Amino acid sequence: MRAHHIDRPADLDVVRESYDRVADNYAHMVVTTGIGDIRSHPWLKASIDAFADTVSELGPVLDVGCGPGTVTAYLAERGLDVSGVDLSPRMIENARRLHPQCRFSVASATDLDLGEASLGGVLGWWSLFNLPRDVLPQVLAQFARALKPGGHFITATHVGDEDAVRTEAYGGVPVRWTTHKWQPEQLVALIEQAGLHPVAELRLPPEEYSGPGLVVMAKRPG
Ligand SMILES: C[S@@+](CC[C@H](N)C(=O)[O-])C[C@H]1O[C@@H](n2cnc3c(N)ncnc32)[C@H](O)[C@@H]1O
Repeated sequence: MRAHHIDRPADLDVVRESYDRVADNYAHMVVTTGIGDIRSHPWLKASIDAFADTVSELGPVLDVGCGPGTVTAYLAERGLDVSGVDLSPRMIENARRLHPQCRFSVASATDLDLGEASLGGVLGWWSLFNLPRDVLPQVLAQFARALKPGGHFITATHVGDEDAVRTEAYGGVPVRWTTHKWQPEQLVALIEQAGLHPVAELRLPPEEYSGPGLVVMAKRPG
């Protein structure tokens, strides 16, 4: 067992199978409509640009839950040493097809083998809300350990109190996953408890295709 074991979510296989089923539709949506592409959303793009400006000289960057690799490829275009990882093999197939110049691999955020102080940056970009409430703090602590002192973490997630069970997504595809929504204060507190110092917080009101959202960027002190 690794020094820092992370509990395996009980629904991990079901979540993986669900994202495998929606992966083609999700990638198609991003490419054809721009929904889910930061370039269509000035505030999300600004957040990622600020993150990229901050970590560009700090070392490797890992995009955890990268899906079809939109942000991974954007950061690579900006010259960052970035790779993407995702739970869903089909998401990664799409990422490799769309962005053959980038590096991608299949793994769960709960099963990464990250070296201590090995990363300049880590992202959990709309990809950590499926983690059970008691597992997310363990994953955040892992990210904090993996960051070099001065390295940064950025996350975007859905705001609320519910554990919303999703039964269909992205064009009526049957899925089974739970979206654990967070209040901004709760999530920021978890990030602080993991040992990171929040440096910026952006609250997004509900939009046509999504409920309220939150972006938090945080730094490993040192
Ligand atoms: C809404 S998509 C976002 C994808 C991408 N970050 C983006 O912004 O386009 C959520 C992604 O999180 C991934 N995911 C969910 N649980 C995960 C886990 N435990 N480990 C790694 N990836 C996970 C899903 O497979 C899916 O690709």
